[in-house]
Amino acid sequence: MDAGLRPENAVPGDLARRRLNDLADDWYATPEPSGFLRKVQGGADRVHVPEHYIRNSVGLMFNASFGTVFAAAGNVLDTLLRRPDALAALRDRRLLATGVNELVRFDGPAQGTSRVAVRPTEIHGVAVEPGQVVMTALAAANRDPEQFRDPDELVLDRTPNRHLGFGWGVHACVGSAFGQLALQELVAGLLDAPPLRRTGRPVRRSTATVRCIAEMPVSFVEKVAGGYDALSRSSPVAGPIDSRGAQEDHGIPAH
Ligand code: HEM
Repeated sequence: MDAGLRPENAVPGDLARRRLNDLADDWYATPEPSGFLRKVQGGADRVHVPEHYIRNSVGLMFNASFGTVFAAAGNVLDTLLRRPDALAALRDRRLLATGVNELVRFDGPAQGTSRVAVRPTEIHGVAVEPGQVVMTALAAANRDPEQFRDPDELVLDRTPNRHLGFGWGVHACVGSAFGQLALQELVAGLLDAPPLRRTGRPVRRSTATVRCIAEMPVSFVEKVAGGYDALSRSSPVAGPIDSRGAQEDHGIPAH
């Protein structure tokens, strides 16, 4: 999808895919694998799964886990630096699980996905023929006012929160528990460390499918007698925001 929007992404994208496949091949060819790979290979031998399935899955797993967690971490950090009140509220560990889940709804990395119809079907009165591609705008669905009350607000205890940030159905994210855990650790780390403040505008990667920050200049707030420098409590972009505000601030167009 990204290459469709920006043709100049096609060649580097293909190159990256090839390098990832080569890496997975190397990993798979390790003479005496250990850990998870050993289990996977052992299991595959027992159930006679073709080897290329395993190698593809290894590549998919890496791609699906690293890129999304990396992107989600940047988005979460960005939101929480803009909303020190929300970060402070997360000191209440009872809010951590629902809060992190809400952060993924509010500004998650997965913007959309697609499926190819294999049989004639109908979606809300629209006929879809076999072979046609259906694109779902996951991030837009996550702000659907018919599903979410105050969809543009960050509500740390939002329950229920049936968002699509981890997909839905049989192909929903298999790593969502790990992804959420990683983000909870990030929040805990932010709360334990000296406060951070932004020192410049974050730069977003120019992608359509995975909303991601490429650069985010920050610095630790200096500790002064009696506490941290007041800058930590008066971020220049603090206050109620929604993603539209965030996008304006980053100087990027709305998706
Ligand atoms: C915050 C982090 C993450 C987010 C936001 C995320 C999001 C998603 C989304 C939206 C999908 C559905 C894609 C689709 O329907 O086309 C998905 C699928 C998937 N995710 Fe994640 N993911 C995250 C972390 C991870 C991690 C850590 C792993 C692995 C350890 C992982 C492995 C996968 C795999 C293998 C699939 C494909 C499942 C299938 O097709 O059956 N994800 N993820």
